[in-house]
Amino acid sequence: MDKFLIKGGTPLRGEVSISGAKNAVLPIMAATLLTADPCVIRRVPQLSDVRFMGEILASLGAAVKLDGNTLTVRADNVKGLGDYELIRQMRGSVCILGPLLARSGAAVVSLPGGCVIGARPIDLHLKGLEALGAKVRIDGGYIHARAGKLKGADVFLGGRCGPTVLGTANVMMAATLADGVTLIESAACEPEVVDLACFLNAMGAKIEGAGSPTLTVTGVKRLHGAEHDVIPDRIEAATFAVAAAASRGEVVLRGARADHMRAVLDKLRDAGVSIERSGQDLRISRRGRLKAVDITTLPYAGFPTDAQAQMMVLMTLTPGISVITERIFESRFMHVSELARLGADIAIEGPSAIVKGGRPLSGAKVMASDLRASAALVIAGLAARGETEVSRVYHIDRGYEKIDDKLRGLGARIQRLKVKPALKKAEPEAAEG
Ligand code: EPU
Repeated sequence: MDKFLIKGGTPLRGEVSISGAKNAVLPIMAATLLTADPCVIRRVPQLSDVRFMGEILASLGAAVKLDGNTLTVRADNVKGLGDYELIRQMRGSVCILGPLLARSGAAVVSLPGGCVIGARPIDLHLKGLEALGAKVRIDGGYIHARAGKLKGADVFLGGRCGPTVLGTANVMMAATLADGVTLIESAACEPEVVDLACFLNAMGAKIEGAGSPTLTVTGVKRLHGAEHDVIPDRIEAATFAVAAAASRGEVVLRGARADHMRAVLDKLRDAGVSIERSGQDLRISRRGRLKAVDITTLPYAGFPTDAQAQMMVLMTLTPGISVITERIFESRFMHVSELARLGADIAIEGPSAIVKGGRPLSGAKVMASDLRASAALVIAGLAARGETEVSRVYHIDRGYEKIDDKLRGLGARIQRLKVKPALKKAEPEAAEG
């Protein structure tokens, strides 16, 4: 288990290239199960979640090769059953359910339980697949799904907290090979869903409306291999943007998609951060004083829950009171108690965190609890006086490609320390993604 040692107080300066998006590549990898032909995916970030998904595909019978940032998958023989232990360890693996059902008529996937950020039900995924004709049974902590030929249907995927991203991905992938037309209402509009639809269409699927709440999928007999470039990671870009502002630096985000980041860029501007766009690059700098802003997380195109923890750090550094409301996951405030160790003044009131900002942070030993909380702790360490030690950085390696190398390239004083594993092997935790 590695940890980061950060010496704070150095403004980040320079350019950083934005990697391919984790949350786009995982369902795209699952989609390769829909064809026996080879698929080539480029701009694949080197992340532990990607390696995990690759191992899951291999356990289902696919040949998987990752060469730098290019992934080739050939799933000419697919089993409905993969390695239970692997599937159990990654929540994002639930998106193999739709492709497996469509391709081989059967799927067994571990039922994702709750995790540190919230309950994570999958009722909407199952409702959608059942509408297409799947028979679903939960047994021994696993979802057992069977289907003859799936049939197109009208499916409403809106839930208590709005649409579901991976649920939309699952139903959309299953519907590509169903008989007839599937209409998905209240579909997720996230750019990662659009990227998946582009890949599926390149494979020969007929999907219209991606990026809007109404998706129409006309089933086809078979899908063929395709090549695809994954979109830039809007959350990685948001994380570096906040880190630049929090450290009083000036950073160019190379290859960031500003059109995918409007809510985050709008809040940063409201907070007094300067943002200049030039082609595919975004220059983020902080010159003057910051202003406190209120933030509410919402489904796309609202402010993303995956950037909430990072923005909270910026608000701890900003004089005034900021109310940050989390509307997607009920307990995504694990970073709050760790930020308090650095001197942040944050109170949780129901779904909101009240941040009294403006006090300088000072370095401390903190523990990462989940992916985005870890990113927030790293940003806080960069902005704090003195030394911050962030343990359990395997959480951050799940979703940020070489974050320590990228930060060092911007002048940060961050070191990765190898920590000897404890003698007793701990039970693996299910990753939250
Ligand atoms: N929900 C239901 N029923 C369902 C599915 C979801 O009630 O069947 C609820 C959830 O409990 C939550 C809301 O709907 O309150 C939204 O959840 P969603 O299904 O959209 O989340 P997800 O698809 O499981 C993906 C990302 C998350 C990201 C969310 C929201 C991947 C692999 N994961 O999860 O990413 O936070 O969408 O944008 O794509 C991360 O990268 O750190 C991360 C957690």
